[in-house]
Amino acid sequence: MSITIKSPAEQDAMREAGRLTAAVLDMIGPFIQPGVTTDELNQICHDYIVDVQQAIPAPLNYRGFPKSICTSVNHVVCHGIPSAKTLRLGDLINVDITVIKDGFHGDSSRMFSVGKATIQGERVVRVSREALWLGIAQARPGNRLGDIGHAIQQYVEGQGFSVVREYCGHGIGRIFHEDPQVLHYGEPGTGLELREGLTFTIEPMVNVGKRHVRLLPDGWTVVTRDHSLSAQWEHTILITRDGCEVLTLGADERT
Ligand code: MF3
Ligand code: CO
Ligand code: CO
Repeated sequence: MSITIKSPAEQDAMREAGRLTAAVLDMIGPFIQPGVTTDELNQICHDYIVDVQQAIPAPLNYRGFPKSICTSVNHVVCHGIPSAKTLRLGDLINVDITVIKDGFHGDSSRMFSVGKATIQGERVVRVSREALWLGIAQARPGNRLGDIGHAIQQYVEGQGFSVVREYCGHGIGRIFHEDPQVLHYGEPGTGLELREGLTFTIEPMVNVGKRHVRLLPDGWTVVTRDHSLSAQWEHTILITRDGCEVLTLGADERT
């Protein structure tokens, strides 16, 4: 697989896919309450994407994934499968949405807390969000992917947390996971040089404890080996002439 540069028309299609992805996350926020099941969140998002947006939930049947969204609670790092499990006060949940509109993908995830999180919970949510934005700040023509990874790793480890290595951001477009791989650690000045028209995700997974993860027997759910809390935020971005455009900004991130 190779890296694709999006034409102006393709960039517009990516903007629309990104806008719809963010709208799903804006919509689902108020439903995240004690007693709701992750299956119910999945169903609400699925119906909204299909019926309201007339778009496609990309995870459904992707490499055999059985649901339309990913829901990763507490020590689940990513790719949690929605189930009959109910959310309880104090839980942290990542909701990861990927929609396909007119053949193009938008991919974004956010953290939500059910009621008030613990102090550690609040910290890991904040540090992972800041890490994403420090990565985004490095995304401009002439910089390299290693600049993004390095900025994220430096900050997260400086806060005493760890960065998951086994999963990374990715190019995105007509294909869900395209080249390049976007690592959330690395050395400045190394890796692919960024250029206008590239679209990719940045999606750091940050653990309170050690960085190591384990895959559950369901073949999808990734958990921290030490059962420590984990948090993740994801945006899809477009490299522009002099910087980048975040394609999946939420209603409260627009200025
Ligand atoms: N949305 C995830 C990502 O950010 C991928 C989920 S794959 C799935 O790349 F099959 F679990 F949906
Ligand atoms: Co992604
Ligand atoms: Co995602």
